[in-house]
Amino acid sequence: MTETRSRSGPARFAGKRVVVTGAAGGVGATLVEMFRTEGARVVGCDVTTSTDPDLLEVDLRDTTAVEAFAASAVDRLGGVDVLCNVAGVQRFAQVGDITADALHLHLDVNLVAPVLLTQALVPALAESRGNVVTIASISAVTAQGYNSVYCASKAGLLMAMRSMAIELAKVRVRVNCVSPGGIETPMPHTSAAQLPEDIDWDLLTRHSSAFPGFMPPSDVCDAVLFLASDHAVSITGSNLVVDRGVVW
Ligand SMILES: NC(=O)c1ccc[n+]([C@@H]2O[C@H](COP(=O)([O-])OP(=O)(O)OC[C@H]3O[C@@H](n4cnc5c(N)ncnc54)[C@H](O)[C@@H]3O)[C@@H](O)[C@H]2O)c1
Repeated sequence: MTETRSRSGPARFAGKRVVVTGAAGGVGATLVEMFRTEGARVVGCDVTTSTDPDLLEVDLRDTTAVEAFAASAVDRLGGVDVLCNVAGVQRFAQVGDITADALHLHLDVNLVAPVLLTQALVPALAESRGNVVTIASISAVTAQGYNSVYCASKAGLLMAMRSMAIELAKVRVRVNCVSPGGIETPMPHTSAAQLPEDIDWDLLTRHSSAFPGFMPPSDVCDAVLFLASDHAVSITGSNLVVDRGVVW
């Protein structure tokens, strides 16, 4: 889809302008570092503050703030080649404990924000013939006990991204998802810590991976960088599952 390709060497992203949400998190921080190591300029955001002047404090639940962040990223970078939607929330809850607030939180952060941010950056991405890589989850394609709200938000996110890929092909913008299984970040631990002791733990652990253990964030980021790179010029609308073998 692009005319010029850079497929080798340490500077796969030399001169590329990259936007990353959830930049302070386990996956996001690793992704920012890996993109910069490969030559990219990165502007990120997170709900937390950072001493890095290119990592902005943005609450993605605020749709006005999402628009302002998109404008600020374009301004700082002089355009955008890659958008990585990484920010996410997960709170396990039994069916009887699901609240409207929890539904809104998951949908706002995991679905509404990435769709609106992608929409806001379409003009810049169309100009650069760039691409979007969004972190969904195996929870987008696998039902999980105590995880209905998160699963619903990630399933919606996956289909929103795949559908946008169809339309945005007209302006030569690729849109792909990476769907991880368990990653060694705070997220799975804090999510599980909120459940009462007497839940059926078999419902949480029944999706065991062929290769045991949680992955380091860099395993997931390698897949993101591949999809964002010119190695993936013919890939759009895809969902690359990186889960050590849970979803078959
Ligand atoms: N950790 C896992 O096992 C796992 C598995 C599958 C998918 N994922 C997905 O991977 C992505 C990265 O997760 P992670 O494991 O790095 O978790 P993490 O909790 O370390 O990072 C998520 C980041 O999103 C940020 N965030 C949350 N709400 C926000 C808001 N309102 N505005 C701005 N930023 C906000 C958090 O502050 C945090 O830095 C998420 O989309 C998550 O759903 C994680």
